[in-house]
Amino acid sequence: MTHIEKMTTKHVGRVIDLKVLPEQQRFVGKMTDILSLANAQVRPYIICDQDEIVGFFLLDTVFSQTHDFAGTHDLGLRKFFIDQAYQGKGFASQALQGLDDYLVTEYSRYKRLLLTVNCLNTAAKVCYEKAGFKDSQTLYEGGPSGPQHIMIKSL
Ligand SMILES: CC(C)(COP(=O)(O)OP(=O)(O)OC[C@H]1O[C@@H](n2cnc3c(N)ncnc32)[C@H](O)[C@@H]1OP(=O)(O)O)[C@@H](O)C(=O)NCCC(=O)NCCS
Repeated sequence: MTHIEKMTTKHVGRVIDLKVLPEQQRFVGKMTDILSLANAQVRPYIICDQDEIVGFFLLDTVFSQTHDFAGTHDLGLRKFFIDQAYQGKGFASQALQGLDDYLVTEYSRYKRLLLTVNCLNTAAKVCYEKAGFKDSQTLYEGGPSGPQHIMIKSL
């Protein structure tokens, strides 16, 4: 059973070992850099399958401070990934589905969930669309690896 959980210091040792495929690394960056983004407002989460940690993401409660297309009622989903060993098994879809229910109770002040996805990252874009995100048809040029689609889901 897939579930999401707040990441704590007890998870660091296992989270640091999570990896994506070499050709996917440009879409999320290095794990050490990802973890350096986490703080009280940019909150790290793990995706678990029973006792295994299979993925990771950040919920950015101050997304609008670093992304000019967002407003203060927009929550940011960042650095979402599934470890390379667990991809293609439905974990991303299940995690995004579980996230919907979690946000309604834990982040009820936010009206929308926003993310950016690299224009070359077709697999992730399709995955997000299947999870109910809509392409805003606007490109974000602020990413390190080229233009990104801005995708939105109403909460
Ligand atoms: C994108 C990613 C999160 C998908 O995770 P996953 O657990 O493998 O995805 P799922 O198994 O839940 O698949 C969900 C849908 O995504 C799409 N998808 C996933 N992997 C795909 C691939 N390699 N090629 C094409 N489509 C793919 C499919 O449409 C799939 O639906 P289907 O099973 O009905 O065909 C994962 O590939 C990943 O971590 N990529 C590297 C990091 C990344 O790019 N993150 C996004 C940053 S914005």
